[in-house]
Amino acid sequence: MEIQTEKILILDFGSQTTQLIARRIREQKVYCEVHPYYLSLEKIKTMSPRGIVLSGGPKSVYDEDAPKSDPGIFDLDIPVLGICYGAQLMTIQGGGRVEKAQKREFGKSELIIKSSTGLFANMEPEGANQVWMSHGDRIEELPAEFMISAVSEHSPNAAIRHRHKPLVGVQFHPEVAHTLIGKDVLRNFVFDMCHCQPKWTMQSFVESNIAAIREKVGSDQVICALSGGVDSSVVAALIHRAIGSQLTCIYVDNGLMRTGETESVMRFFREKTGLDVIQVDARDEFLGQLTGVSDPEKKRKIIGHGFIKIFEQEAGKIKDAKYLAQGTLYPDVIESVSFVGDTVIKSHHNVGGLPEVMKLDLIEPLRDLFKDEVRLLGLELGLPEEAIYRQPFPGPGLAIRIIGEITPQRLEIVRQADVIVLEEMKLAGLYRQTWQSFAVLLPIQTVGVMGDERTYEHVVALRCVDSLDAMTADWSRLPYDLLGRMSNRIINEVRGVNRVVFDISSKPPGTIEWE
Ligand code: XMP
Repeated sequence: MEIQTEKILILDFGSQTTQLIARRIREQKVYCEVHPYYLSLEKIKTMSPRGIVLSGGPKSVYDEDAPKSDPGIFDLDIPVLGICYGAQLMTIQGGGRVEKAQKREFGKSELIIKSSTGLFANMEPEGANQVWMSHGDRIEELPAEFMISAVSEHSPNAAIRHRHKPLVGVQFHPEVAHTLIGKDVLRNFVFDMCHCQPKWTMQSFVESNIAAIREKVGSDQVICALSGGVDSSVVAALIHRAIGSQLTCIYVDNGLMRTGETESVMRFFREKTGLDVIQVDARDEFLGQLTGVSDPEKKRKIIGHGFIKIFEQEAGKIKDAKYLAQGTLYPDVIESVSFVGDTVIKSHHNVGGLPEVMKLDLIEPLRDLFKDEVRLLGLELGLPEEAIYRQPFPGPGLAIRIIGEITPQRLEIVRQADVIVLEEMKLAGLYRQTWQSFAVLLPIQTVGVMGDERTYEHVVALRCVDSLDAMTADWSRLPYDLLGRMSNRIINEVRGVNRVVFDISSKPPGTIEWE
């Protein structure tokens, strides 16, 4: 389902900020794709990119095993921007020299622009500009026909350009927020040098994808597992807009959802979109199988297998189902390059599970999008803001927030505590900026006193974290008053709880969920 549009190609040399380059370019409403540095020249030509960006990377260009792209890219007459490692590679492949710097340049630096053209068009000549550097090597000698376009204290060749060809390189990282001129530099690259048009909008994405989905599906049927999360909701809304009643969604209520969650998902889709949603009430089945199970991995397995079984059963009833729609996102499909020691690891993540079991073809309309773009797409499709900006919720649901055995009583406690946590986070205006905030029920009881009575009741832990991608996280520095209110309300309003604690572990070494 290739959607034709003008694009910038980013060749990845393993930098941690490669995806950020893509984000920054897309923010300029220009489409771009990340590919590994070894993409062949032939392939690059067939993609006809408007421009090519060479990312940074952890290696040194003079290392024996330094990753190198085909130097033929510099002769395609396509603008190339080298960033850090990319600029150094452009240098040595052009015949210049890169060496270990006497002084590493790391962090903020002042850039003095020497030539207000190309990347620095419309910027103050000789003006001081804050940029962010992170390099141990530096360009010592320019290739023939290159000239300096900016300098910094420790980099006499902080930005370079070819005198005649559209080739530019910067030692700093325009993609990070600390580079205050980063946006202008990238804008100059994509618009002035690559002559792109700012046409990549969610509206254009919807239009072109609807056409592509219609063409691919024809008169066949598509099924989609709706979880209530942002990704599956957006997938369902988009495909529904494309093919209407040829889409059937299946929502499995496993009894482990938060208060009111199932109802709100159903209400939106049935009332607002007219989407055909099969709601399967499998609460008793899941809770029955989980009885007496405390081991976290066992819980996950039971829930995972149970879901596949029920989904298969229901999908089997839909005649002529040919496609399965999934909410796979761009970070999952980027064939990103990472280095461990001297070994290149190519990781190509793919979302497994249902498709192999069911022998259905996949439709993954979000494959090209980052999470925040999915949210914009959801808004464009008319999904309510509360659904779009919902905090992530794990597939196994509340089962992994009840440490130990899952019983109806314990589920009720965690549900009630969860409502209070979310209400208070929203009232404090901190819900959206916090990655996740939730209650965990612990498998211990502690002594307390309520009125004149001694109590011996449950403990609830509050887990609130800040994160960008869930790979790492830190505990949220919530105001004490807010913590106090949550604690008071949980202890007063939730029967069976007499103590609340706050989790102050980061990830790693902790994980976000407790199980
Ligand atoms: P951890 O606990 O590994 O969680 O730090 C990272 C993020 O993933 C979510 N999570 C899951 N999501 N199925 C999911 O769909 C799962 O089995 C699962 N386990 C954890 C978690 O809520 C956090 O956002």
